[in-house]
Amino acid sequence: MIQAQATDAIAQPESSVVLEANGLTRRFGGLVAVNHVSFTVHPGEIFGLIGPNGAGKTTLFNLVTGLIQPSSGELLHEGEEISRLRPFQIAARGIARTFQNIRLFADLTALENVMIAQHIHTRSGLFTGVMGLPPAPQEERKTYETAHELLNLVGLGDRATEKAKNFAYGDQRRLEIARALALNPNVLLLDEPAAGMNPNEKQQLSDFIRAIRRQFNLTVLLIEHHVPLVMGLCDRIAVLDFGQLIALGDPAEVRDNPAVIEAYLGGE
Ligand SMILES: Nc1ncnc2c1ncn2[C@@H]1O[C@H](COP(=O)(O)OP(=O)(O)OP(=O)(O)O)[C@@H](O)[C@H]1O
Ligand SMILES: [Mg+2]
Repeated sequence: MIQAQATDAIAQPESSVVLEANGLTRRFGGLVAVNHVSFTVHPGEIFGLIGPNGAGKTTLFNLVTGLIQPSSGELLHEGEEISRLRPFQIAARGIARTFQNIRLFADLTALENVMIAQHIHTRSGLFTGVMGLPPAPQEERKTYETAHELLNLVGLGDRATEKAKNFAYGDQRRLEIARALALNPNVLLLDEPAAGMNPNEKQQLSDFIRAIRRQFNLTVLLIEHHVPLVMGLCDRIAVLDFGQLIALGDPAEVRDNPAVIEAYLGGE
């Protein structure tokens, strides 16, 4: 993995907003998984999302990426309403993600997994890629080279031809990040990227997220249970509990918030 060149946040005017939720609500039957949640995310931020199991974190990511639609409320990307868009339309706007339950093409190689994602952005398009139709040779060469670069970036460059299913858990998570970066995103959502990683890998991941934020000019939304990682990495942290936003602030504010200590840290 590459190391962070610098750890400071990218300075942005206070007023600029890349992502905005207003009263965002999602019900599943009688359960309100996301309950009237409002927040803004600024360009270049690493924005943490924490909360107990079942708090609604993944549901919030599913709303942002168009996998599900809100019951009410609105969601804006760069000032435009996106909550009625299909997932591929949201991906085309540059919002990419990884999944808590890894979703790779198990029988395809690492390289193929990354190349398929890139086809969304090439002239040949996703349809050609999925159907296995031949794209323009020059374009295919570029896709191939970029995929290799991305695999190198996540530390899997020497394993490009191995099938995804043969990768250890932590390596699959890195491969998912490479695939998300292949969409050339401006917003990257990571759902528990450190799950299954050892302490050393977690520290490397933290440095890596800072480095790609800078290199790709990203805004990052991060769901993570490992509190030291979240506190050390995020510029601001939002805390969900039973679907409600109970705190939002910088790491120190959130850490000292009594409601957060009660809900998330179990009152210890
Ligand atoms: N498609 C669905 N249908 C019905 N209920 C759902 C659906 N998706 C999520 N839920 C419910 O919504 C609530 C929030 O789930 P969600 O997966 O967003 O929690 P989470 O904060 O990501 O939890 P974890 O930390 O365990 O991943 C849970 O009670 C879950 O069972
Ligand atoms: Mg989840």
